[in-house]
Amino acid sequence: MEYKLKETVSKDAFRYGYLVNKVAPFLKPHLPRIILNLVLAVPLGLLDGVVAFALKPYMDCVINGKTWTVGNFTLEQNTLAIAIPFGIILFAIVEGVLKYANNYLTDWTGNKISNSLKVKLFNKLTTLDPKFYDINSSGLVLTRFYTDPETASKNIIQTLKTFIMTSFGIVGLVSVLLYNSWKLAIIGVVIMGMAITPVTFIRKKVKKVSNATMVVGGDMTTTFNETFAGNKIMTAYNLQEQQNEKFEKQIKDQFNLTISLTKRVGWMSPIMHFVCSIGIAVVMFYGNHLIITGEMTAGSFASFVTSLLLLYKPVKNLGATLTNLQTTFVALGRVFELFDLTPHIENRKDSIPMRTLNSGISFENVWFEYEENTPVLKNFSLNIAKGETIALVGNSGGGKSTTVNLLPRFYDIKSGAIKFDGVNIKDFDLNSLRENISFVFQDNFLFSGTIRENILMGKPDATEDEINLVIKMAHLDDFLLTLENGLDTYVGERGASLSGGQRQRVAIARAMIKNAPIVILDEATSALDNESEAIVQKALDNLMQNKTVFVIAHRLTTIHNADRIAVINEGELVELGTHDQLMTIPDGNYKHLYEMQFKEQEVNV
Ligand SMILES: Nc1ncnc2c1ncn2[C@@H]1O[C@H](COP(=O)(O)OP(=O)(O)O)[C@@H](O)[C@H]1O
Ligand SMILES: [Mg+2]
Repeated sequence: MEYKLKETVSKDAFRYGYLVNKVAPFLKPHLPRIILNLVLAVPLGLLDGVVAFALKPYMDCVINGKTWTVGNFTLEQNTLAIAIPFGIILFAIVEGVLKYANNYLTDWTGNKISNSLKVKLFNKLTTLDPKFYDINSSGLVLTRFYTDPETASKNIIQTLKTFIMTSFGIVGLVSVLLYNSWKLAIIGVVIMGMAITPVTFIRKKVKKVSNATMVVGGDMTTTFNETFAGNKIMTAYNLQEQQNEKFEKQIKDQFNLTISLTKRVGWMSPIMHFVCSIGIAVVMFYGNHLIITGEMTAGSFASFVTSLLLLYKPVKNLGATLTNLQTTFVALGRVFELFDLTPHIENRKDSIPMRTLNSGISFENVWFEYEENTPVLKNFSLNIAKGETIALVGNSGGGKSTTVNLLPRFYDIKSGAIKFDGVNIKDFDLNSLRENISFVFQDNFLFSGTIRENILMGKPDATEDEINLVIKMAHLDDFLLTLENGLDTYVGERGASLSGGQRQRVAIARAMIKNAPIVILDEATSALDNESEAIVQKALDNLMQNKTVFVIAHRLTTIHNADRIAVINEGELVELGTHDQLMTIPDGNYKHLYEMQFKEQEVNV
């Protein structure tokens, strides 16, 4: 399954049956309310017809004094003169109640459906593996996961409702037309039909522009996110101007798109009005003749013309509703494209739980690539004994981080095998596999919340004693004493209110409380100054005790203390041994690196 999201229309946008099937389970729980809502739309649609119809008895009976008979009922001038004003009040009450109930139900069901879609999509988002996040921009993901479900679900009910309302509106008004004069009705309906034909022509154009608008919208969100996440870099490199220009360009693009749409759509309404006015003129012309010849009453004619005028709105709406329906399906298509994304990395059906590490870890002829045909690890083999600390060194971009990212299966390898105690890691249950591995990165992510909450993420049911122990071991105790709220200090989004070293020690405490047998340190101290590094290193030493450790570091001391050192060069394991062994290789990679990179540090240490 392809992970890269399309920027505009998904392939399924026009498979209506498929989409209806897909969305049905989300509508089902709210079916009674949806049906009630749609049923209420029927009388609401018919109300216009009632108004137009009432004009005939009003004019003929109340004003011109004729008696009015419907079947066996005969109504006198006086009765009607009183009944009609009361009728208006009753009509307003009925209309108000219906409209309120109808809008309430539309909002209620629309939001419920939208929420369940969003929750499901968020669940999906959390199950996708790193590759998804590598290849899709945040702006695109945000629109796709946040805006589309809203558009889709709110539109579904709204559009269905409007469709029913306008259809019944048209039926009601056309009935009144026919009731008053079928000859005039034919003229009126034909001209009305001509007036709305242009709508069908521009629908395609509208769709194209709305897609383009969405792409620009996504780009704008990305710009916001980058400004947010990269604000330090932006400030440091004085990129404000550049970001501003980028954003202004996007705003301009959006404006151009909107205006191009207005240009194309804006002339429609006047033209439709024009055609309609011709229609009214023709009807009047012929209607006057009918009245003069006595074939039609004045009341009938007033009722007829009013119906025709009122008909314009629902007919126009019907066109818009069809366009909306299309938009809804396009949004639905995108939503369900997301539902169909399957994580690349999944549990085998017969997966087994990993309990702990007993003997060791082995990489066996591992080939790995992020992108097709660009191998990053090439025939990589390495055995690590339980309890061993292995350092990975090598040139930047050589594949050190990649190697350790394969252990918790952030990515799957192309061929070869990675085994824990002789069992392929693909055979283990994913969660249990990840429970056995602790990671400390260069820049550790803290979630918004308190320090305690962040530490507890390593082990939600930890006791107070366990927390106190890891705080000590992570050398956080002194720091926490300086905080008014101690452990319950709020750390801000991404832990922004802590220093690099403090954040790192919270992350180490989180890893410690997890107490996983395998520990991975990827440049865990690289971003720190000497002073913070010393204390973080002490915390790390505690974390590493009695564990199987992979350490990627830029400091000699850390490397020196490792049991063995693996040198990775352009994705290949080129040397393996202790510091002393590797130093004896003439022209060796490690010796070279050491002399280049580490010797200088040793002088400083
Ligand atoms: N998420 C990714 N998507 C595509 N390529 C990547 C990704 N991460 C790393 N690479 C590439 O893989 C190679 C190895 O990277 P990495 O393992 O991070 O090197 P090291 O940690 O040794 O500096 C580099 O060429 C890098 O550009
Ligand atoms: Mg790296």
